Order: sequence, then C-alpha cells, then structure tokens
Amino acid sequence: MSSPVISVSRLKRSFKSGTGEVTVLKDISLAVPQGEFVAVMGASGSGKSTLLNILGGLLSPDEGSVVVDGRDIGSMSDAALTVYRRDRVGFIFQMFNLVGTLSVEENILLPSLAGGRRVSAAALDAMIEKVGLSHRRHAMPDTLSGGEQQRVAIARALISEPALVLADEPTGNLDSENTRLMGDLFQDLHRTQGCAFVLVTHAPDVAMWADRVIVLKDGRIVDDRPTTEFPGPVELSSFYERTLNDAL
Ligand SMILES: Nc1ncnc2c1ncn2[C@@H]1O[C@H](COP(=O)(O)OP(=O)(O)OP(=O)(O)O)[C@@H](O)[C@H]1O
Ligand SMILES: [Mg+2]
Repeated sequence: MSSPVISVSRLKRSFKSGTGEVTVLKDISLAVPQGEFVAVMGASGSGKSTLLNILGGLLSPDEGSVVVDGRDIGSMSDAALTVYRRDRVGFIFQMFNLVGTLSVEENILLPSLAGGRRVSAAALDAMIEKVGLSHRRHAMPDTLSGGEQQRVAIARALISEPALVLADEPTGNLDSENTRLMGDLFQDLHRTQGCAFVLVTHAPDVAMWADRVIVLKDGRIVDDRPTTEFPGPVELSSFYERTLNDAL
C-alpha cells in the first residue's frame, strides 16, 4: 500500500488566552491514505478548524509531526509552506471566499495563475462543466446563489489536482437541496480525482458522504470508524451524541 497522504503523530497545539494558554489539540495521531474521504465531527470549540488549518499549512503545530504528501510541514519554511498550500492543498470554506471583482472562471484559475501554472482550456472547461456552471462562467460572484458560489470554490480547490482537499463546514451556508447537490459533486470529484478529502461538519447527513468519521472532543480523537457501520445519518447522529456523552 502507498504511504498515507496525511500522517499526524502526537500533534499538540495551544493558543494564548487572556490568563495563560489553552491547549486546543492534545495528542492527535491520524493517518489518511490516498483517496480516503474523512469526515471530522465535534462540538464547537473542539479543535476541528485548528486541525484543518494545521494540515493545510495555515497554522504551525507546537509539538508532534505532521507529514502531508511526503513532507513534514512542521519544519517547512514560510516560503515552502506558501508553495505547499498553493500547489498541494485545495481549501473549501463555509464562507466561499471568492474574489468579488473576478468572474467565475477567473476565480477558479486564480490560485493556478498565482503559482505560475498553466491550466489547459480543456481542463478548465471540463471542471466548469463538472460543477454545473458552464452557463455562468463569466458571471461575477455576487450574482450567484450560495450553492453556485460554493461550486466555484470547489472548482477552484480541485483544478490544480491537489494531494489533499480540506473543507471546513462547506455546507454551513447552504440549504438542503444545495447540500445534497454538493454531496453528489464531492463524491464524484473524490472518486475521479483520487485525492484525500478531509471535511469538517456538524451535520450527520454530510458526514455520511465520507468513508470514515472521526469525532473530536476537547482536542482529542474520541472515536474513529468507517461510515459503513451506519445504515444512515440517523444512526450516525445517535452514535455521535452517545460518543460525546460517553467520552471522558
Ligand atoms: N487564533 C486563536 N487564538 C486563540 N484561541 C483560538 C484561536 N483559534 C482557535 N482558538 C480557540 O481554540 C478552540 C478551538 O477552536 P476551533 O476553531 O478549532 O474549534 P472548532 O471545533 O472548529 O469549532 P466550531 O465548530 O465552532 O467551528 C476554541 O476555544 C477557540 O476559541
Ligand atoms: Mg471551526
């Protein structure tokens, strides 16, 4: 088997707070093989975004090793981290984060252009088609619905064929119909691109898109199992509630 895309060992991270320090991630170890789709669940403040930001090279670990795509990102220089983020990671956030003065296709191409990489016209057309925005490719973001904006963000994250896609509550601002469309799209893209996906969500129906679900509580992984253990989101939801109550 090939080495995992993500290999995290004994990761710790603290933040300064008014009175001292709070440890937000405590001894996290995690491996994600190539092509696996992992959902991360946990209460507000449990450290989900902090973990994602460390995996994406936006935040440094205090202790432990974080190896992504064969590189120890804890020991990389700022310049190397910038290149890593741009070339190897696709980010998708709750707030879409599109550039308002650029069109749909310019937003999709922006990270690649910034990295000096050419995306072929055929690859751009195929991606725009895949996310269902062929008729809106010259539109400006503020004329798009929330679901359409998120599809632009997804195309932008995936056009560079990253090793790892990180999504932080990507459906948090979407209605149920757009959430369902997003699920079909994510699973399709995940299958065809073969990169690892890590998706943070509060919603059990969204977590069910993944191969595996990890539950964080107070900065620790308190459960980790395949979603195939659950017949559906209802069962995952009651497991999740139980896990949070049982965990120390
Ligand atoms: N830059 C920072 N400085 C100080 N404290 C921080 C910082 N970033 C996060 N924290 C704290 O770390 C804890 C975990 O935050 P994090 O954003 O990882 O939680 P989360 O699980 O993503 O929560 P939510 O579900 O609300 O998004 C919180 O208590 C938060 O206030
Ligand atoms: Mg968060």
